[in-house]
Amino acid sequence: VSERSVVHAGAEVLVASNRGPVSYALGEDGALTAKRGGGGLVSGLSAIGQSTRGAKRLHEGRGSGDGRADAVWVCAALGEGDREAARRTGGALDPADTGGQRVRMLDIPSHVHADAYNGIANSVLWFVHHMLYQTPLEPVFDAEFRRQWGAYEAYNHAFAQALADEAGRDAAVLVQDYHLALVPGMLRALRPDLKIAHFSHTPWAPPEYFRMLPDGIAEQLLRGMTGADQLGFLTHRWADAFSACCAEVLGGTGGTRLGVYGLGADAGFLRERSRRADVDERLAALREQIGTGPDGTARRSIVRVDRTELSKNIVRGLLAYRELLVDRPEWRERVVHVAFAYPSRQDLAVYREYTAEVGRLAEEINAEFGTAGWQPVVLHVKDDFARSLAAYRLADVALVNPIRDGMNLVAKEIPVVSEEGCALVLSREAGAHEELGSAALTVNPYDVGGTARALHEALTMKAGERAERTERLAAAATALPPARWFLDQLAALREG
Ligand code: G6P
Repeated sequence: VSERSVVHAGAEVLVASNRGPVSYALGEDGALTAKRGGGGLVSGLSAIGQSTRGAKRLHEGRGSGDGRADAVWVCAALGEGDREAARRTGGALDPADTGGQRVRMLDIPSHVHADAYNGIANSVLWFVHHMLYQTPLEPVFDAEFRRQWGAYEAYNHAFAQALADEAGRDAAVLVQDYHLALVPGMLRALRPDLKIAHFSHTPWAPPEYFRMLPDGIAEQLLRGMTGADQLGFLTHRWADAFSACCAEVLGGTGGTRLGVYGLGADAGFLRERSRRADVDERLAALREQIGTGPDGTARRSIVRVDRTELSKNIVRGLLAYRELLVDRPEWRERVVHVAFAYPSRQDLAVYREYTAEVGRLAEEINAEFGTAGWQPVVLHVKDDFARSLAAYRLADVALVNPIRDGMNLVAKEIPVVSEEGCALVLSREAGAHEELGSAALTVNPYDVGGTARALHEALTMKAGERAERTERLAAAATALPPARWFLDQLAALREG
């Protein structure tokens, strides 16, 4: 028994995800700086403190003396800083760095992690579920793919082994996302006593697309997932697609329960955080940059905030904005497209190319239409959460036009934070559309002309209608707070 499994022995609730709640930067002097992360997954799981108290209430007498059950979050070391932190601590991170959360960070060999994460998870599984393959040359499942698949198995096995080491008897384990699809089956074999759930934060592909994977791989993925007691999805659409894949490939889902757990915006956190001084400062700077139109009033803003991610469809958003300026020249000088596109997955060439394309197109539009006093597109690429919140506050129009998206929290966050109310132009292919569609302006994400017309409609929406729709959007967006998303899954897993 290793030292660290003694330290962490017997957790009652375990969470497993590729990206953990904290990351480390390694300074030249060897010092490590911890940074706590954000994002839908992190905000959902940050409810774990509460959830463990909830678990305690559900199972009186199982908690530790301080009223909190024991919970551990297992994640992978993602960069050099993380690896160094994992080595120095034997994997059990310093709670001072994690907001008190017990985190075990796995130091998986970097080439194994790279093949599993970049090779399989982000280049194959992400592409399948978002239906992103667009050329006749992709995908190719060859010897290189098989080699990477071996790494994906090893990486999943490392997680299953760590969870088996950490979990107390009959503990509840909540495994996250496409990175870890094989973990439930592997963990079930190691620890038949555990209650195991898996949650998909992505869409799920329909069988005719999913089955482009080699038969044995498709089967292994579905068997891995159905090794869980409970599988969670963000919408009925993705859960139904998963069922359909199981029906075709496995003949059914076995005894696994499927559940839909929508994830909403964290209203309390957003409202408080977005009113702080650092956000005020950035708001003033943004207003300055957007400027005033020919009539002396503030220009209107069309805001988008995304990772620079192929599925987010940023390029077609820019093309739609250009079409708006061509078709409706009355908007020239009077509107600014505020586009925040933060770097993501830059180890992959196709993401680097997409990032470059976004930059090129923004420059092209500015060169084509810009004047001495007006920059039509304000593109920011440096990730800055306070500035994102500032943009949320001033948004007149929010543009969320993904090709396909598990949920999309930006669509839910902007209406909550916006000061004057905003019109939401929303892709029908975002999971959030199931909940927000009736109060949004719906677009087909491929239809650039249709998106341009929706932008015009959003910009010309009467104040009364805009306020009424924003109210409905905010209510729908906050109906399923992250803590509830987590607690509902945990309760269903415990009771099921
Ligand atoms: C999606 C996935 C998450 C992932 C996030 C950021 O939302 O479902 O699991 O954390 O993208 O992607 P990254 O590759 O940077 O972790």
